Parts: sequence; structure tokens; C-alpha cells
Amino acid sequence: MSRVLVTGGAGYIGGTTVALLLQRGFEVTVLDDCSTGHADSVPAGATFYQGSILDGDVVRKALAGCDAVIHFAAKSLVGESVEKPDLYRNNNIGGSQVLFDEMDGAGISRIVVSSSAATYGDSKVQPILETHKAHPTNPYGETKLAVDNLLTDLCAEENFAAISLRYFNVAGAMKIDSGWLTERHNPETHLIPNVLKATADKPLKIFGTDWDTKDGTCIRDYVHVVDLADAHLRALDALKAGAHEIINLGSGGGYSVREVVTTSSKVVGYEIPAVEVDRRAGDPAVLIASIEKAKSMLGWEPTRDLESMISDAYQSLTAV
Ligand SMILES: NC(=O)c1ccc[n+]([C@@H]2O[C@H](COP(=O)([O-])OP(=O)(O)OC[C@H]3O[C@@H](n4cnc5c(N)ncnc54)[C@H](O)[C@@H]3O)[C@@H](O)[C@H]2O)c1
Repeated sequence: MSRVLVTGGAGYIGGTTVALLLQRGFEVTVLDDCSTGHADSVPAGATFYQGSILDGDVVRKALAGCDAVIHFAAKSLVGESVEKPDLYRNNNIGGSQVLFDEMDGAGISRIVVSSSAATYGDSKVQPILETHKAHPTNPYGETKLAVDNLLTDLCAEENFAAISLRYFNVAGAMKIDSGWLTERHNPETHLIPNVLKATADKPLKIFGTDWDTKDGTCIRDYVHVVDLADAHLRALDALKAGAHEIINLGSGGGYSVREVVTTSSKVVGYEIPAVEVDRRAGDPAVLIASIEKAKSMLGWEPTRDLESMISDAYQSLTAV
């Protein structure tokens, strides 16, 4: 039986991937410092070490008996990364370096990593292909690109087998026996949970209605967290020694902010309170992933639509 180390497995996407791994018969070890994750989000059945990827000793212990790693552990708030770039460099790049060194020392060379659309920066050409020149516009995106570059070197020099999955926007939730695995970010910066939490006193802000898009609001690419987790398991199967692949994950289509609000109103059965305000500095009008490479290399495509993402997110929020 195969054992996988999941760093960041107490977080939103990591916890969901742990649950899917366990369902599919893998053994799982989780390493998470719970800086933004939650110990009670680690699904039962996983071996859990609470500690940091910056700590070589705990990484070594967590790697024992594993033959592959899925690496989610990172700080991921763009605004915070602008205020505290050194914290982001230390945690995301420095922590990954410790992890990779310990893997190398233990003879473990198979790894799937969370990368991000933030590595691309702005793009006039949509959908964005993996061959698009990476040009991050914030420290968070820079750290994700730096980790991808470390992996390219490790594959070339140490025969690692690596896949970086570049997610665009992730949404939805997963029901397991003990309840829902869902987004528990603080602060929450993602659109769908914030739409669902909007009230008459604190309405959702729609930033700009005069963009050059079909309904004037920004378009983003969302993928259901369970579809995303499934892509990680497929990536484990697709790893090849000496090769580092970068693969986008998204819907390949995209939804406008107004579509998200309208679909959410339908799901919850009342009109989501929303106000239209000016554009926000730095927002691109459209961000959509090309997912042709995910289709051809992983045999993956999303199976759950926007309504399913919102419905699962809503059920998870109202169940707590
Ligand atoms: N959620 C999205 O839409 C999205 C989009 C693109 C990329 N990503 C990437 O996906 C990954 C998971 O994101 P998420 O939304 O689940 O975030 P999350 O904050 O819920 O999960 C990240 C986990 O990593 C842990 N962690 C952070 N630093 C650590 C360290 N030094 N040692 C051990 N654990 C540490 C946190 O405690 C947390 O449990 C991140 O790498 C993020 O950059 C997320």
C-alpha cells in the first residue's frame, strides 16, 4: 500500500485531498502547523503531525514510510504577502526547500505541488496556457513561481518526478462521515463564501460593472474542490522521473461575478444583498485557464458546475 505525505492537510484543499486519498485506499500522513488550517479538518484515518515544514526534524519524521508527497502548505493571502513579503518568502520558499532537502535525504522523489494562477500575473491573452510567460505581480505569486523553479532544477539534477498544479479559483465543499470539509479562511478573501455570507448590513461589494465582459463584471475561473483533489490523485499517477510538468486546473470557461451572485440567489432562495462599487486597483477583467493539458496529460476535466460548487458551499456553511 502506498503512503502519501500531505503538507497543509489541515487546510481547505489539503483536507479534501486527504479525504479522497483515504477513500481511494491510500495511507496518509499529514504535516500542518495549523497557522491557517484546523486540526479538526484532518480527516480521521490520517496520521497527523502538527508542525512546520520549516522544521527539518518533524519533516523527516513525517516522511517516514511515504513514497510520495502532495505539498499544499503555504501562506496564500495576496494582500498579506504585499505587507509581509519576507514572511511569505521564508514560509513558502524556505519551507519548500527544507521539505525538498528532506525528501532528497530520504530517497523520496515523487511530488505534486500546489502552484497558482498568481504565477502568471496579468495576461491579455485568454485562456492562459502553461507556456504563458510567468510574471507574478505580487510576492505571493513570486513565492509560488520560485517553488516551481526549484522543482524544475530538482528534476533535472536529482531525477525528481514533479507536477505543479496551477489552480485558478477553488470553491465548494466535500461531505464526509464526520461532516463537511469546507473553506475556513480568516480573513476570507474568496468570492463564493463571501457571497454566501453577505447580509443587508454587510452586502457583497461588486467591484466594477463597466469591464469589457458580457455583463460588465469581472470573469474568473472556478473549479470544485473535489474535482481539484481528484486531479492531484491523477497527477500522482502521471509523475515521471526527471520531468517537471506544470498543469493548469480550472473550468476552462469562467463565470462572471454577476453570474456567481445570481446563481447563489437561486441556491439560497433569496436575493443576495449586493452593492456595485468602483473597480478595484489591480484587478484584471478576465482570468481563465486553458485546461487542454490537464485533459491530455491527466485525463481530467471538471465534473461539477457553478451551481454545484455554490450549493455544496452553502450546505457546508449552514451545517456548522
Ligand atoms: N484556495 C484557492 O483558491 C487557491 C488557489 C490557488 C492556489 N492555492 C494554493 O493551494 C494551497 C492550499 O490552499 P488552501 O486554500 O487550502 O489554504 P489553507 O490556508 O486552507 O491551507 C494551507 C495549509 O497550509 C498550512 N501551512 C502553512 N504554512 C505551513 C508551514 N510552514 N508548515 C506546515 N503547514 C503550513 C496551513 O496551516 C493550512 O492548513 C496553498 O498552497 C495555496 O497557495 C489555493
